[in-house]
Amino acid sequence: MARSGERYVCQDCGALSRRWAGRCDACGEWNTIVEEAAPERLPKGLGAGRGRAIDLVPLDAREAPEAPRLITGISEFDRAVGGGLVEGSAILVGGDPGIGKSTLLLQVVAALARSGIRCAYISGEEAVRQIRMRAERLGAGAAPVELAAATNVRDILATLEAADAPRVVVIDSIQTMYVDSLESAPGTVAQVRTSAQELIRLAKRRDIVMVLIGHVTKEGQIAGPRVLEHMVDTVLYFEGERGHQFRIMRAVKNRYGPTDEIGVFEMSDAGLIEVPNPSALFLSGRGEGSVSGNAVFAGMEGSRPVLVEIQALVASSPLASPRRTVVGWDSNRLAMVMAVLDARSGLGISSHDVYLNVAGGLRIVEPAADLAVAAALISSLTDTPVPEETVLFGEISLSGEARPVSQADLRLKEAAKLGFTRALTAPLSKRRETTLQITEIARLDALVRLFTEPAGGSI
Ligand code: TYD
Ligand code: MG
Repeated sequence: MARSGERYVCQDCGALSRRWAGRCDACGEWNTIVEEAAPERLPKGLGAGRGRAIDLVPLDAREAPEAPRLITGISEFDRAVGGGLVEGSAILVGGDPGIGKSTLLLQVVAALARSGIRCAYISGEEAVRQIRMRAERLGAGAAPVELAAATNVRDILATLEAADAPRVVVIDSIQTMYVDSLESAPGTVAQVRTSAQELIRLAKRRDIVMVLIGHVTKEGQIAGPRVLEHMVDTVLYFEGERGHQFRIMRAVKNRYGPTDEIGVFEMSDAGLIEVPNPSALFLSGRGEGSVSGNAVFAGMEGSRPVLVEIQALVASSPLASPRRTVVGWDSNRLAMVMAVLDARSGLGISSHDVYLNVAGGLRIVEPAADLAVAAALISSLTDTPVPEETVLFGEISLSGEARPVSQADLRLKEAAKLGFTRALTAPLSKRRETTLQITEIARLDALVRLFTEPAGGSI
């Protein structure tokens, strides 16, 4: 039975419960619920007497039409945040430990500081000497960034209250910060929330850009960034496969810009390097000649076309329930494409082990990849390569029809730019101006025939 004054909080999603449980009812994560002291309640009967009247202003008041933005000059980062940092905004940068958050943000503040904007980098994880060493390695040792190693939010607030405070502040990481009036340990939901609240309030009041770095944790020992998502203006996740050199910054929430833009970086000894043309990089590892099981998907990430290679391996399985391994795509979507392939064209793919991989560590969320995935699967199963220099895009419906997808022109243009000569697509809504030879595929069985009857199809 819970004692009064104590409550149980999921460290992943922040849900409250009365008693401990192994699994959080709200988000379904295991072993994330811990006991925390309840915060002190507001005095009963909070009357109007104590409040201060707030100013109500007309909606159409003449102000600057767009909030001024600070441009970092690291254009992949500027793109992900929606075209530069907005003054007085709070940004959460989440990601697995070791993915490169500290490196990126140190590069960002160094770039801003070089252009004359006062920036502070406050670390609760590293000593000032260590941050200096990292900056040296990144070639940013001479940038006029102001550093501090601190974890007490009260001290940080006092510092930033000063009249000549920095305009951009990075807190690395929010899970190391603590408010001394709370009893719970740093990293718990109560501490992370309260610390963030105080820092964000200050940012709004003083028009400071507040960047909070947050580690994503699976174990729930410390509170994940999800508990902060609703408090900040912008949420960026920094992701990538550990073994790959690519890192992708993705906006999942943005009050000041679109949320589907990504920024692409490549890791190097000297820090993160921008990748202005991701397609060329994602495709650069491809060998000469066609290999069965590989298909190039002409995708879109926000406003930018991105070409990636989808690799499938379909192998006969000794198991009663064959293996499915998917990297970079939704496994439910794969199950659907396989089921449609089996039901509509009788390929019998479900009895095989299937491995699917999106090359380069990109995670694709577009259903437009269906056609490319289906082609990779059929190609591997029939051991027939996808025709050379061909890109694919199109969504597949449960009835086995290929459905048109948006922004076909941009996809085709990018493919032409990278030297592709053919496109297999779902039926296009109108004739497109392109140098590519287009083959429209209306139904999945037509796609299957391209591989099983090369003469009948037009391979
Ligand atoms: P770090 O930025 O410390 O990750 P996080 O703050 O997300 O935990 O990066 C982890 C390690 O990777 C660190 O030792 C530096 C190294 N690294 C590079 O050498 N080059 C790079 O481009 C990046 C991003 C990281
Ligand atoms: Mg770090």
